[in-house]
Amino acid sequence: MNTISQNNRVLSGMRPTGLLHLGHYHGVLKNWIELQHSYECFYFVADWHALTTHYEDPSIIGDSSRDMVIDWLAAGVNPGSSTLFVQSRIPEHAELYTLLSMITPLGWLERVPSYKDQQEKMKDRDLATYGFLGYPLLQSADILMYKAGFVPVGEDQVAHVELTREVARRFNHFYGREPDFESKVEAAIVKMGKKNARLYKDARKRYQEQGDTEALSIGQALLEAQQNISLTDRERLLGYLDGEGRIILPEPQSLLTVSSKMPGIDGQKMSKSYNNTIALREQPDEVVRKIKTMPTDPARIRRTDPGDPEKCPVWEFHQVYTDEETKQKLAEGCRTASIGCIDCKQYVIDSMLDELKPIQQRVREYQRDLSSVDSIINEGCEAARDVAQDTMEEVRKVMGLTGRR
Ligand code: TRP
Ligand code: SF4
Repeated sequence: MNTISQNNRVLSGMRPTGLLHLGHYHGVLKNWIELQHSYECFYFVADWHALTTHYEDPSIIGDSSRDMVIDWLAAGVNPGSSTLFVQSRIPEHAELYTLLSMITPLGWLERVPSYKDQQEKMKDRDLATYGFLGYPLLQSADILMYKAGFVPVGEDQVAHVELTREVARRFNHFYGREPDFESKVEAAIVKMGKKNARLYKDARKRYQEQGDTEALSIGQALLEAQQNISLTDRERLLGYLDGEGRIILPEPQSLLTVSSKMPGIDGQKMSKSYNNTIALREQPDEVVRKIKTMPTDPARIRRTDPGDPEKCPVWEFHQVYTDEETKQKLAEGCRTASIGCIDCKQYVIDSMLDELKPIQQRVREYQRDLSSVDSIINEGCEAARDVAQDTMEEVRKVMGLTGRR
């Protein structure tokens, strides 16, 4: 609805629960890197989120936080254009989370599908905690803190963004009604100039009286084109237009990442829980070993037995790495037993090593210069905190918490 007040900001986080692998690279990081060209990106280490599931042994979190940022950088995330930070270093996230919890109906959290799914999936952990129930709301706080317009997520996270939208709407509904809202709106309308002001009022009337959604779009477009009003006034006028009140926390949209089908070395989706990963930092000889020992079509017992690529997990890797022409050649070679599995696997090995080589080179460079990694993180945290403090000032004010400063 409020597309115009949507800023050009992207926010996403990753939980530091172990080494990044090629599944993260193909599924998330390449997308993050791409987004840097078109958006103002904020990427963060979701260490509090990691604690919701790893609270019993948090050592992995401390160990992997900085390494994770190093892997981001090595993969091509650019600290010159993106803000990289660590969630727990911006305590405002906890404050916003607490404040949002006041207005969030319990049922909204209980209904988020991942709540029950993950409890089922991670039977070895006790996830019947308050923190785990609140997981998606903490994520909402992350997103709304930066007023992010867009959140790149996988399918499993779409429900969390949806919850965020509902929470934002409820927040704006309660708190977007400043006591002097109407007079501020009047003042803002004057700034639009006579003609635009008339068009705006007219569009509002048609929308509110006749539910004319076209008029709503016209009004929104009018505000979008308006150069000489502040962002806050624009948000007031948008809220006045659709009757929702001023938009303090804009609703984000998910940018659904086309789920990368990065397979693991057993043909299932690559995932730490399946123990089938190839780490971004995997030693080259380990990569070779892991691919060489992969099972293939069970029909190919001897080199002379023909096979079927569709029954072979190695083939999944060719879908990621190999061009069409070569794939055709290999498929035919497999079906006619004119090539062996070792030859076929060599293509995958070569592509993977080529992909990992420059990344690992950069990992080593950053490891030799940890202080520059730390400065990147420190600077990112400072920049993020500036934004967070601005948002919290606004939020505290509308929630009646002005006594403290
Ligand atoms: N829950 C996300 C995941 O498991 C991580 C995350 C935390 C996140 N906060 C976020 C992602 C905010 C996007 C926006 O992948
Ligand atoms: Fe798999 Fe390639 Fe062997 Fe065919 S030749 S079974 S596709 S590894």
